[in-house]
Amino acid sequence: MRVLSSTLSAWKQHLTLRKDDAGGAPRRIDASAFRQIMREVAAPVAIIAAGEPGQRNGLTATAICSVSDNPPTVLTCVNQNAIAHGCIIDHGCFSINFLSSDQEAIAVGFSGANKIYGEDRFALGDWTEGSTGAPLLRDTICSLECKLIDHTAVATHTIFVGELISARTKSNCSALLYQHGAYKQLAPAMPRPALADCQS
Ligand SMILES: Cc1cc2nc3c(=O)[nH]c(=O)nc-3n(C[C@H](O)[C@H](O)[C@H](O)COP(=O)(O)O)c2cc1C
Repeated sequence: MRVLSSTLSAWKQHLTLRKDDAGGAPRRIDASAFRQIMREVAAPVAIIAAGEPGQRNGLTATAICSVSDNPPTVLTCVNQNAIAHGCIIDHGCFSINFLSSDQEAIAVGFSGANKIYGEDRFALGDWTEGSTGAPLLRDTICSLECKLIDHTAVATHTIFVGELISARTKSNCSALLYQHGAYKQLAPAMPRPALADCQS
């Protein structure tokens, strides 16, 4: 935990400060400029979920990253005000469910846009339980069941580090992405021209 905290504090210093164009004193990039920059980045959309049936909580999230394959480890960043935040800590396990492009309604519901909260969100989609009791969504690109092994607060969020306990995947599924404030999916790949067509 100490190693994670000191690495993160070094990152924080590096990310919040930059030289101005004239090479003068470092200055802060403000929150609104940062949000504008991050709007450009297309990210896969997932539902982070925790808790037992009747008392489950979940949220739509894009702040998710693979950390290591040995042991398989992932991280996600959750706002400390999210209802699921305490639920993840209390249960010590959680799931990350990467949505397919036909699961946009689930992303909307779990983002709070429809004013649906807590257990009521789980009426959206087909949910089961993993071996740890973490809620797992069916028909996703992949659903990862994780044991919470570390967490640390950074600014408004907590970074939750999870070791993979089980995973379900579905092949040939189109991913749900978020970019420019909207849900998107990748266009089908363009057919590649045959080599002979490229030679004049
Ligand atoms: C596309 C998208 C991505 C989001 N990513 C995150 C995220 O990575 N972490 C986070 O804490 N909130 C994220 N949010 C916001 C939460 O989904 C939202 O605040 C949710 O309502 C929190 O759950 P609660 O209402 O139960 O507190 C995202 C929202 C959207 C629409």
